[in-house]
Amino acid sequence: MIEIFETKDGSKTLLNTALNETYHSRFGAIQESIHVFIEAGLNTYLKQFPDNESIHILEVGFGTGLNAILTLQAVLNTPYKVYYETLETYPLSLEQVEELNYIEQIGDHLLNDYFKKMHTCNWDEPVEIHPNFTICKKKQPLETYHSEKDFHIIYFDAFAPNVQPELWTLEALQNSTQKLIENGIFVTYCAKGQLKRDLKSLHLQVESLSGPPGKREMTRGIKVIKT
Ligand SMILES: C[S@@+](CC[C@H](N)C(=O)[O-])C[C@H]1O[C@@H](n2cnc3c(N)ncnc32)[C@H](O)[C@@H]1O
Repeated sequence: MIEIFETKDGSKTLLNTALNETYHSRFGAIQESIHVFIEAGLNTYLKQFPDNESIHILEVGFGTGLNAILTLQAVLNTPYKVYYETLETYPLSLEQVEELNYIEQIGDHLLNDYFKKMHTCNWDEPVEIHPNFTICKKKQPLETYHSEKDFHIIYFDAFAPNVQPELWTLEALQNSTQKLIENGIFVTYCAKGQLKRDLKSLHLQVESLSGPPGKREMTRGIKVIKT
């Protein structure tokens, strides 16, 4: 069962009651997404490579679409164009997502139509949500994922390793990081030692960064050589 859960920054998230796992940090859904994925991921990449206007992002776990809509918001009125490929095995319904208060909390009502379009557009084909943002939602598990594309940034936002260990194995991590270009960025909220060791063995230079409020650390990896 999926229930609504109000997080400490006032934004809501969903709770998968069978797994007793929330889709975002219980300390704050929006602040976690901004801190981990937008700031440590997208904005860090853009600061380093400001002239690269075409950015490919791979997300593991589309979920409520919060990371996706914050990414779209970040590139509106910029020269950057994002191609956003996102994997999801248990798509949520529009009704479930509409019970969340993201657009109201983000405080930008112009995002409403884009958010709705993201959730209602077809799966498994690229769809332009805005001239600066094209999404391709893939209804397939990371474990068997293959893509022709390479990516500049990976948002690794699977449920935690204790809940879904199969998404954090060396093989599963390799399946995503092998699509990362040289100097590409891998970000996740997770700070487990085993994850960091695995990323290093996959040719990523690993940093432990301070986490969003309520969480001590998060992890960022930079791909040193394309494999
Ligand atoms: C932590 S939530 C993602 C939150 C999401 N990024 C957001 O902004 O709302 C993890 C998501 O991974 C999805 N998932 C579960 N198994 C998966 C798999 N094998 N491959 C890809 N995604 C999976 C879950 O259904 C869930 O939506």
